[in-house]
Amino acid sequence: MPENISPDLRYERKMLNAGTILAPLPAVMVSCGTKEKANVFTAAWTGILCTRPAVTYISVRPSRYSYGIIKETGEFAINLTTSKMVRETDFCGMKSGRDMDKIKKCGLHTAPSFRINAPIISESPLSLECKVKDIIPLGSHDMFIADIIAVNADGRYIDSKGKINLQQAGLMAYSHGEYFSLGRKLGSFGYSAAKRSARKRRNVTGRRQ
Ligand SMILES: Cc1cc2nc3c(=O)[nH]c(=O)nc-3n(C[C@H](O)[C@H](O)[C@H](O)COP(=O)(O)O)c2cc1C
Repeated sequence: MPENISPDLRYERKMLNAGTILAPLPAVMVSCGTKEKANVFTAAWTGILCTRPAVTYISVRPSRYSYGIIKETGEFAINLTTSKMVRETDFCGMKSGRDMDKIKKCGLHTAPSFRINAPIISESPLSLECKVKDIIPLGSHDMFIADIIAVNADGRYIDSKGKINLQQAGLMAYSHGEYFSLGRKLGSFGYSAAKRSARKRRNVTGRRQ
């Protein structure tokens, strides 16, 4: 561990009001409805709850147009977003599908999912096809807990061994109200504990958590 990561004691710690300042988060595009009548909205309150079975969640305010659609159909797709899609991602989080066809307005495209009726957003490098298994009211938002029943990936990012390589996809992140492109790769999952010889061979990221 060569770098000095000691805290700079010249600065005092400050307590802020309790709040949702977890960063970075993904800002994903959630697509729902049907191919003929699809809607998309932006969500940052999302994440993974379990590896096996693969379970995810989105937390959605009941006032969102998409809320009723997802509650009725029990399906949605989580579409990862890229720097190229930042404007569209923000727009889909500002305007409601009640008032316009956001997909058309943004020049986005949909494609059929493999295992759900809700379409995916074609511009997204990777989409998670999800089926709702539980809805938990939490307060401002209801949490839709869902099984990930298929991963729908742009073939460019899948190598001949079936490994997902998203480094070239240009993924973006959301940090306390601002969007960022991801920077340079710092390491791979487990690299700090790997033996030196294995470390050289190793090029595996984010597996087995
Ligand atoms: C970056 C960002 C993140 C957002 N995250 C959420 C979220 O996690 N849950 C939610 O209910 N709304 C979230 N919103 C707001 C909705 O995307 C927004 O209200 C949208 O207009 C809802 O679309 P709809 O009415 O077509 O469903 C977010 C907006 C932005 C810009």
